[in-house]
Amino acid sequence: MTGNILEVDGLVQYFDQPKPFLERLLTRSRGARVHAVNGVTFDVREGEVFSLVGESGCGKSTTARTVVRLLTPKGGRIVFEGRDIADLDQKQLLPVRPRVQMIFQNPYASLDPRQRVGDMIMEPLLFHGLVANRKEARERMLALLDTIGLHSEQADRYPHQFSGGQRQRLGIARALATSPRLVVADEPVSALDVSVQAQILNLMMSLRERLGLTCLFIAHDLSVVRHISDRVAIMYLGFIVEQGERDEIFDHPLHPYTEALLAAAPSLDKRFVHVPLSGDVPSPMNLPEGCAFASRCPRRASRCLEERPQIRESGGRRVACHLV
Ligand SMILES: Nc1ncnc2c1ncn2[C@@H]1O[C@H](COP(=O)(O)OP(=O)(O)OP(=O)(O)O)[C@@H](O)[C@H]1O
Ligand SMILES: [Mg+2]
Repeated sequence: MTGNILEVDGLVQYFDQPKPFLERLLTRSRGARVHAVNGVTFDVREGEVFSLVGESGCGKSTTARTVVRLLTPKGGRIVFEGRDIADLDQKQLLPVRPRVQMIFQNPYASLDPRQRVGDMIMEPLLFHGLVANRKEARERMLALLDTIGLHSEQADRYPHQFSGGQRQRLGIARALATSPRLVVADEPVSALDVSVQAQILNLMMSLRERLGLTCLFIAHDLSVVRHISDRVAIMYLGFIVEQGERDEIFDHPLHPYTEALLAAAPSLDKRFVHVPLSGDVPSPMNLPEGCAFASRCPRRASRCLEERPQIRESGGRRVACHLV
């Protein structure tokens, strides 16, 4: 045993966007490919909160959805509890599903509006045969509602009869129903009011302690990440550019992109780069040959435009930059 619940190695995910037939015929090209995740490697240790951070569109959700096998990876390995699940088919994935669960970004879109919330929580218990009968499923469901701070009378209501914060609590209850070993939380609070965000995060953190959960947490709010994470990986254009212990990353960022992110965060102190980022994020349809960050990097050298930096490790810290 390595103490890692999850080992992701060289994960690749892309989406092909086919052109209409006639255009394909005339231009003789097959259409565009969106390179969302470009060889991402990280591992999540038993009991920790590991955060993936980066700007909108950098591939966080795609990484999450691929890791939990809502998507099939185009390359790489996803070793969950010692077994590579990257190429398993739906049937082979059945016993894995209850053990890794996802909390989604948008509690409004991720709950079925036609299903009573109690049934929604009971469904995976019955489907995976984790309870003996409906009575036991109902007892588990009521206990879960209590855990997340809702009342048993609310079990027969529909999702639209709840507030946004309550709905996200229900999303958490549904994810916890099968007693998963790993919870992948994709920006679980970013669709909520600031006042509700803290409540939900506190709930998640207390559940983490109580249930001994391991969490892959996805976020772009750095103050939240600093608050809850053990280790952090920074993503840019589908690449992990830096990874390390939380305090190392926040106190001594090595990659120029990490410095820029920290400098741009309103709630964090400004000891790092003071130059705002200029230039555009390259298109994921046309990845640059060199470093993905080179077009916006204040320290760019000519080598950065020509050669893609490989990630290098030293003392648990990983960074992909020619200048470090
Ligand atoms: N189903 C899809 N088909 C085509 N392109 C997609 C699909 N899903 C995601 N993408 C593209 O892949 C890239 C990564 O998207 P992703 O949703 O993973 O980003 P993200 O980091 O989660 O962003 P956000 O912070 O906005 O949620 C984007 O360029 C996005 O447009
Ligand atoms: Mg996302």
